[in-house]
Amino acid sequence: MKLAPRARALAPSETLAINARAAALRKQGKDVISFAVGEPDFPTPEHVCAAAKAAIDQGFTRYTPAAGIPELRSAIATRMGRSLEEIIVTCGGKHALYEVMQAILSRGDEILIPAPYWVSFPEMARLAGAKVNAVRTDGSFQLTADAVERALTRKSRALIVNSPGNPTGAVYRPEELGAIAELAVQRDLWIISDEVYSAFVYAGKHASISSFPGMQDRTVVIDAVSKRYAMTGWRIGWCAAPRVVADAVAGLQSHMTSNATSIAQRAALAALTGPQECVEEMVRAFDQRRQVMSGLLDRIPGVRCPTPEGAFYCFPDVSGLLKGKVRTSAELCAHLLEEANIACVPGSAFGAEGHIRLSYACSEDDIRKGMERFAEAAAKLGKLAAK
Ligand SMILES: Cc1ncc(COP(=O)(O)O)c(C=O)c1O
Repeated sequence: MKLAPRARALAPSETLAINARAAALRKQGKDVISFAVGEPDFPTPEHVCAAAKAAIDQGFTRYTPAAGIPELRSAIATRMGRSLEEIIVTCGGKHALYEVMQAILSRGDEILIPAPYWVSFPEMARLAGAKVNAVRTDGSFQLTADAVERALTRKSRALIVNSPGNPTGAVYRPEELGAIAELAVQRDLWIISDEVYSAFVYAGKHASISSFPGMQDRTVVIDAVSKRYAMTGWRIGWCAAPRVVADAVAGLQSHMTSNATSIAQRAALAALTGPQECVEEMVRAFDQRRQVMSGLLDRIPGVRCPTPEGAFYCFPDVSGLLKGKVRTSAELCAHLLEEANIACVPGSAFGAEGHIRLSYACSEDDIRKGMERFAEAAAKLGKLAAK
């Protein structure tokens, strides 16, 4: 019995695989520190949990409208300056991205994806039948309008913008976003703007490409409560899209999942409309941790790590360590897991060999301990290579 080609061609998420390997080693009693996870270590705020419990107690446990409960859509619409009809609540940001790509991409279309990219973007685009055209970013992982223009072909239909970005932590400059927006209008491109990390900008403010002239009609913004409110397991995200796309996504969703979980929608409503100090507290903690981690990484011989400006990842250049026994970022991550008991994700998973990704959404103690182990393992590698 054979699987369908689309399932056979799919590359499973490498980040989830590494997490599973780290968990297995932990089960064997090893003191593994994981820098592989893409989720805050903070608990979901209490008032959010209370809203979910109240929803259960009130019997709010039935199907909801496919596009989401009107109160939640309305709260999101107000926040994003769009109409309620343009907001569709989905089962997480990932699901919103998947459905949007299904709605706007066809076989033979091409989608431009800035590299390094989050692992799921290319796979989702391929599932929609599109061809992936990776656009190189510059030395600071900034996407430039020039690079997009050079990559465009007659088949280009959409461009992904992910700022702050996973895996690099890069935050795109408003001037450059403006230039990219102009190009999108000229070349009639859809923009899929993944803004799930918009709360995690450490210097300055988040700028959305949807705010530039002419962009509301061609931009689909993807967002979620997952990262901002430490709600990764609740699975609530949304897209804010021109009506044609929003209607198509709602239609797709009515057949795929019927709706996002009723209880989790009530929890998301409490998160968006309740006190926001919980977000500020988490962002302050991550700001401190990003400086500690990037500083310690940058001190390790063979590693270069500028301080990232957003999200919660460091994406150091480790090419200085790739010699002798360890030649690739995947081999380096395997070595770090076996020798130093630290889990990191190879850059190859994000289309960027020579780098690795480390999440600093973990305790400062773990960051300090983990970076010490990294430094020792790197020194050992240096000695081995010199033999
Ligand atoms: C860039 C990016 N977009 C979307 C998502 C998915 O978020 P969610 O957990 O809401 O599906 C992630 C999760 O890691 C991400 O890194």
